[in-house]
Amino acid sequence: MCGIFGIASTKSTRNKLYQGLMKLEYRGYDSSGISGTHISSKLSTIKATGPIKNLRTKLTSLTNITTGIAHTRWATHGEAILKNAHPHLSENISIVHNGIIENYIELKSLLKKKGYLFKSDTDSEVISHLIHMNYEKTKNMESSIISTTKKLKGSYAIGCINTNYRNTIFAACKGSPLIIGKGINENFIASDIMPILSDTKNYITLDDDEFAKITPSKISIFNANKAISKKVKTSKINTEQASLSGHKHFMHKEIYEQKSILKEMTSRYVGTNKILSNIFGPGTDKILENIDHIHFVACGTSYHASLVAKDWIEEYTTITCTAEVASEYKYKKINVLPKTLFVSISQSGETADTISSLKKALKLKYSNTLAICNVAESTLTRLSKLVFLMNAGPEISVASTKAFTSQLFTLLLLTIVISRKFGNIESRMVKDIYKINEIIDSLYKLETDIKKISTKFKNKEHTIFLGKGTSYPIALEAALKLKEISYIHASAYHSGELKHGPLALVDKKMPVVCFLPDNHLARLVLSNLAEVEARQGQTFIFTNKKIPKKNKKVEIIKMPGCPDLIAPILYIIPAQLLSYHVALKKKTDVDKPRNLAKSVTVE
Ligand code: F6R
Repeated sequence: MCGIFGIASTKSTRNKLYQGLMKLEYRGYDSSGISGTHISSKLSTIKATGPIKNLRTKLTSLTNITTGIAHTRWATHGEAILKNAHPHLSENISIVHNGIIENYIELKSLLKKKGYLFKSDTDSEVISHLIHMNYEKTKNMESSIISTTKKLKGSYAIGCINTNYRNTIFAACKGSPLIIGKGINENFIASDIMPILSDTKNYITLDDDEFAKITPSKISIFNANKAISKKVKTSKINTEQASLSGHKHFMHKEIYEQKSILKEMTSRYVGTNKILSNIFGPGTDKILENIDHIHFVACGTSYHASLVAKDWIEEYTTITCTAEVASEYKYKKINVLPKTLFVSISQSGETADTISSLKKALKLKYSNTLAICNVAESTLTRLSKLVFLMNAGPEISVASTKAFTSQLFTLLLLTIVISRKFGNIESRMVKDIYKINEIIDSLYKLETDIKKISTKFKNKEHTIFLGKGTSYPIALEAALKLKEISYIHASAYHSGELKHGPLALVDKKMPVVCFLPDNHLARLVLSNLAEVEARQGQTFIFTNKKIPKKNKKVEIIKMPGCPDLIAPILYIIPAQLLSYHVALKKKTDVDKPRNLAKSVTVE
């Protein structure tokens, strides 16, 4: 998984390539690089490990480049070291690649036999040598791209320059996204729309098995060797650059943005006593009335949102739901009963596992497919029949926060819409929704206390998170947040499961965090907590229930009272703040945690 950007131009593009690449950093930041051709047709390449800013000091050696390709890497094959950074060269040919070449070992041994020397441990380097080998035979890049891609198994988006083709980029893709931006006297390739928006909003999506030849004045697209014409689309994305707005990190800013996003979503979709009509698209109220089963598919944080939705929907309707992680769904036999809706959930809309699950679902007998997504014009939204765009604004921090609560809010709306025919509960649920906006402020006031508590996690290596009912997915999500940004191991359990094994881990050093809204389950969770306290575990309880603080090993984070329906949306916010403050204390890179990338575009 990586980000690709390229500009075919006659002007100097060095700074634009660097700036554009920065906008793809969410796709990976293990290393980066740029290759470009000079007016003299000389090829120059720079590379650096770590975040893209490490390329800055090397940019001077690209002073006269016009057409160029750039890459930011999230390591899959080969360590995050300089020799594995893209672009990969084969004499006068330079390539950048996003995806995984599954048959690279056999291709590598074939190329080695032909005398090619490999400088990296990556799967991608075979592409540059294959193109070179084919080009040497034919002296024709179009046919070389066709013969090369025919040999590749796996997924790829490729950008390629050959110094024999002045100011020209060749691009091809299969299973990894690539768009072509149509500018004025210059054209672009990119993994997504963001790097080109400052120059153009017009773009073409390259589809699987297509390839393109891009010069500053012309974009030619081919399927095999047949030229094809494709629709130029216009992006509606706002070009406003995301900024920190006074916050130290994007994660902190995004935790705080949840308040205005949820308010905005309420005013957009919720009327006085009911959810507005057809919020999931034209005719969707009728479509959703006809559903008997739902299959949710998502990854990571988005998957946790689907677990809450499953509980909500099954509680208020007779609809049966399954929630599957996308990386499993794709490889399982799926039984689709009549009247089943497939719902994919994704912040980015570019998660490879979720996309391939949707592709599989489109071939099965679902009555419809709905994508809940934050990024317009993403692959997921292009493929799904029904689309709900959350419009939560760009989520920059790798650890997802505002996307999660926006997903929960959307799924709550879905629950209400499909529960209509199961009883007259819509107006009561709508009242509960309005309470989110009344209560949310008080959660941010907890930050000072949470900051103090975070000190107690700083030197821990392990933690346990507990929840019951809809608080269990919140425990999962809170544990994921802590792992991701503070690198402390965290496991989440249904509180009732503790006694079936994990209790063995509890001793006086083990912090146990529990989400305990005061509801019909609270009594049982309290018994589970008593088992922890009896073993001298340190408990941190987020609750609005009045519980006696028996000793100093019990920390109570006093939550505001709220209807049970909206508890998951509210309880996760202080948990996000907790992981943020633990990470600050541990001095980790909060917005760009090690080994991760914002959007996982490989399976
Ligand atoms: C966690 C996180 C990831 C993503 C997951 C799916 O903070 O961000 O677990 O939730 O990679 O990403 P999307 O939602 O973009 O499909």
